[in-house]
Amino acid sequence: MEKVYSIILASGKGERFDYYKPKQFIKIAGKTLLEHTLDAFENNSAIDEIILVINPLCKDLTENIIINNHYKKVKKILNGGETRKESSFIGINSIDDNDAKVLIHDAVRPFVSDRIINECVEALDRFAAVDVAIKSADTVIQINDEHIINNIPQRNYMMRGQTPQAFKVGLIKKAHELSQKEENFEFTDDCGLIVKYNLADVYVVNGEETNIKITYPEDIFLADKLFQINSHKVPENIALTELKDKVLVVFGASSGIGKDICKIAADYKAITYGFSRKNNVNIANYEDVQRVLKEVYEKEKKIDYVINTAGILNIGKLEERDIEDITNEINVNYTGAIKVIKASLEYLKKSSGSLLLFTSSSYTRGRALYSTYSSSKAAVVNMVQALAEEFKSDNININAINPERTATEMRYKNFGKEPEDTLLSSEQVAVDSLKTILSDLTGQVIDIRKPK
Ligand code: CTP
Ligand code: MG
Repeated sequence: MEKVYSIILASGKGERFDYYKPKQFIKIAGKTLLEHTLDAFENNSAIDEIILVINPLCKDLTENIIINNHYKKVKKILNGGETRKESSFIGINSIDDNDAKVLIHDAVRPFVSDRIINECVEALDRFAAVDVAIKSADTVIQINDEHIINNIPQRNYMMRGQTPQAFKVGLIKKAHELSQKEENFEFTDDCGLIVKYNLADVYVVNGEETNIKITYPEDIFLADKLFQINSHKVPENIALTELKDKVLVVFGASSGIGKDICKIAADYKAITYGFSRKNNVNIANYEDVQRVLKEVYEKEKKIDYVINTAGILNIGKLEERDIEDITNEINVNYTGAIKVIKASLEYLKKSSGSLLLFTSSSYTRGRALYSTYSSSKAAVVNMVQALAEEFKSDNININAINPERTATEMRYKNFGKEPEDTLLSSEQVAVDSLKTILSDLTGQVIDIRKPK
């Protein structure tokens, strides 16, 4: 089988973004755009090697990123050129095997999916050049120099280009070599060269609306939102047997998801400690949280994971609710979570451990009667993103679970009877939560959905 290379273009300056660092180093959900993009290719089994083309001014920064992430597939780090075309050529030229496949991708398109990558690789069995594009929702019009329309092509045939673009190495090398000979050459992209010199049919794989390129400052707002909406799925290929002999502390352990987490973790031989108001631990009291963590640490000599499922849901119009009731809710749902995190840090640092919090699907949009509950859950998500960055150097992961409607006592108390088959089981949420703490994810909101 021919090897499959991917060239990640990260040599641009990001002038249109106008930030003090090139835009590929902007962080979303605790990681730079470059890392999100590298993750996509590193974790895709169809890709054998990654060639990273970088801006020489950012060499140290980039090398640190490669080292800290333990990327195994990054085999070359090349200095890029003045233009994207030059950077792309430098990458292509570094591959000797002309029969190999290569995917060229912008470092600033962090949302590229496995589906897109796989389809590009597969399409190269049938075509020597492959583009990725999406249908245009807007009508595309062609204008002349006087700004007058001279053509409206049929929308069905209009698409907007994305990356990756994929080629047999020999073909794209040839295209670049032909273009080197021309002066005043206007370059659109690598596929454009194949079309211009009529070297091969370029097959188009369907892209995705979410595979956006970060170009302008406002794109980062969209990227943040996409990250939240698109949030990561429950990590696959994680065996709960890894829990054996790990020390796990669960707050909110007396019922519902917290209780099931304790039970399942113990089944897998984790050393599990569950706390709740039933055993006199209220996460709204910092001293309670500090005391029990210290006790567990002194007994076990380590704490690997801390999970907080404690939460309360009180609904009502803000105007009609007592201030005590409101503060109490926030003291558990939000500041309580902060207390759990803060008190856990000194222990989790020593074990490169992991923290897990719970949010709710209501965090993305405020809704009447749920103002304090939903906004405290939104605050939890925001905090997870911020703290993932802060904790990076301590190797502590922090994530939030976003379960769909789950069959718990709290739900029953608040919503009454609901059709069983529309609710997630609390055991499933518990299993997926445990998989999340065992994963490498950080700064993420993990959506848990009922299997279809
Ligand atoms: N790129 C590159 N080498 C260049 C120019 C661009 O590797 N000399 C890369 C960028 O790092 C980016 C991708 O090509 O990942 C797409 O380019 P673009 O969005 O234009 O990025 P920049 O050139 O960095 O941005 P700008 O044009 O606003 O300066
Ligand atoms: Mg550019």
